[in-house]
Amino acid sequence: MKILRVSNKESLSLGNLEKIILMYRECFLEPPWRETYFYNTLLIYFEKIFSIPNLISLVSISDEEEIQGATFAYPVIFNKEINEFLEKNGVKDLHKIIYLAEIFVDNKFRNIGLGKLLHNQRLILSKEQGMEFSVERTSPASKMFSIILKDGFTPIGGMEVMSLKNISGTQIMAPDARIVSIKKI
Ligand SMILES: CC(C)(COP(=O)(O)OP(=O)(O)OC[C@H]1O[C@@H](n2cnc3c(N)ncnc32)[C@H](O)[C@@H]1OP(=O)(O)O)[C@@H](O)C(=O)NCCC(=O)NCCS
Repeated sequence: MKILRVSNKESLSLGNLEKIILMYRECFLEPPWRETYFYNTLLIYFEKIFSIPNLISLVSISDEEEIQGATFAYPVIFNKEINEFLEKNGVKDLHKIIYLAEIFVDNKFRNIGLGKLLHNQRLILSKEQGMEFSVERTSPASKMFSIILKDGFTPIGGMEVMSLKNISGTQIMAPDARIVSIKKI
């Protein structure tokens, strides 16, 4: 297994970007998320992510060259919503904060430590990049919330997000709780 740092969309072949998008879609269709995404919406989202300066994007690849999971992190100043939330909550020095935007591991590679490895690696690289704090937003019902609490993150506050969810086979826009947490790195 190896963890690759993918600096831009071009260094990830088109086929691999497609695999990452499909994996993302599968991962967030699971509870507690139950989110449904159109492929093209995600393609635009990931293309936007790849255009962010100082992006940290890591992909875990198995010995058989299969993509196992990925993470994306970038300076929080490039995320208006989180930036405003932090300002409102009195957090200072926003330019020194990395936003841990996405992390996901294919279901068949779960619980063997990959999520934690990707998480730890993104923090190491963020520190090397001069970042001093990291911020994560997740559902209080998610496994990721337990992982970051164990890792010493402190919850700052909650917010509500709206997303298209699959609830008992019906797709509806529904609200969901998120907790924003911070840790010195
Ligand atoms: C969250 C996710 C990335 C974790 O990936 P993973 O590779 O399975 O995680 P790991 O194997 O590294 O496990 C990390 C820790 O979680 C613990 N854990 C395992 N299952 C758990 C569960 N159901 N609830 C809480 N903690 C759990 C493990 O014990 C481990 O902690 P430890 O090292 O202290 O024992 C993965 O579950 C996933 O992709 N989920 C769907 C997408 C998602 O929720 N992403 C996060 C969005 S913010």
